[in-house]
Amino acid sequence: EALGGKMALIQRRWFGHATESYTLEGDAPYAAIAGSVEFNRVTHENSLKWETVEPQPGVFDFTLGDKLIAWADVADQAVRGHTLVWHSQLPDWINNPTVPWTAATLKPILERHVRTVVRHYKGKIDQWDVVNEMFNEDGTFRDTIFYRLFGSDYARWALTWAHEEDPDALLFINDYNFEYVGPKVNAAAAFFKSLVNEGYPLGAVGAQAHLIVGQVDEAGITAGLQKFTEFGLLLYLTEVDIRYEINRGNDIANYTTSQVAQQAKDYYSVTKACLNVPNCIGMTLWQYTDKYSWIPGVWDGTGAALPWDVRLNKKPAYTAVYEAI
Ligand code: XIL
Repeated sequence: EALGGKMALIQRRWFGHATESYTLEGDAPYAAIAGSVEFNRVTHENSLKWETVEPQPGVFDFTLGDKLIAWADVADQAVRGHTLVWHSQLPDWINNPTVPWTAATLKPILERHVRTVVRHYKGKIDQWDVVNEMFNEDGTFRDTIFYRLFGSDYARWALTWAHEEDPDALLFINDYNFEYVGPKVNAAAAFFKSLVNEGYPLGAVGAQAHLIVGQVDEAGITAGLQKFTEFGLLLYLTEVDIRYEINRGNDIANYTTSQVAQQAKDYYSVTKACLNVPNCIGMTLWQYTDKYSWIPGVWDGTGAALPWDVRLNKKPAYTAVYEAI
């Protein structure tokens, strides 16, 4: 009767959700489901990002991060760490420095950030998205402050620093559009293979899996995930949601029976794709309910992307995941 329990017991895999302590505190019915055996893993949706954790140079604030860790401990959920190095949600002092960054000035800042955060959560966070979204759609490296100054070496360094601080953590590079074979997946897989061959402590790939209703293909995703796992890496679907893009909004009540059934089919397909790949160790919903989904805020008119609706009722998508596991 519970997705996390089923994944853990039958498949020995993870089924997770993203949330925040302040969301849990304000909504008891929501928190009851979030803390139930539906889930055996949780991700901080925002509060471990650089702007929150190190708002001023060398001034670290783990208040929100620690609150969710304490909640996860009570709920008996493992924690994915999201995320150490990303071009988005950076603090202003990184984005707009008084003196422009050079490789020599930014490298120690990056090292301090990665080491301090991983050290703080050693033994509490066992999976880290060390680098997030480092690729463009054409497979080239994304042009960020880190890439401009360091080339792709920043990923090598961040993996090494994180591993030195917590050798037991499983280290990830995470990205979107990592689900289907194409230029991005091919280039990323080649880069990851070279990192592994060079001995860097990359253990897994995160495929965010922000998907679209009607565009989810089990065989296609299975093939995409296999690109990353054929040389030994583990794989995790880290931020799953499947949104409608037909401007009917965020309430599933506004969708037709066949549209609702299509989303359920798509949830079945993505779950099956993970289970088809032996190294795919789990999936996490990016919030479990439409009530708190980031989707409508970013793509106006779209939404209704999660297995639980805005009233916290389970949709056919929930049953589909349950049947797929
Ligand atoms: C999103 C959060 O859900 C929003 O609340 C926030 O405003 C922006 O970031 N890829 C990621 C996540 O790796 O960190 C993003 O989370 C969604 C896209």
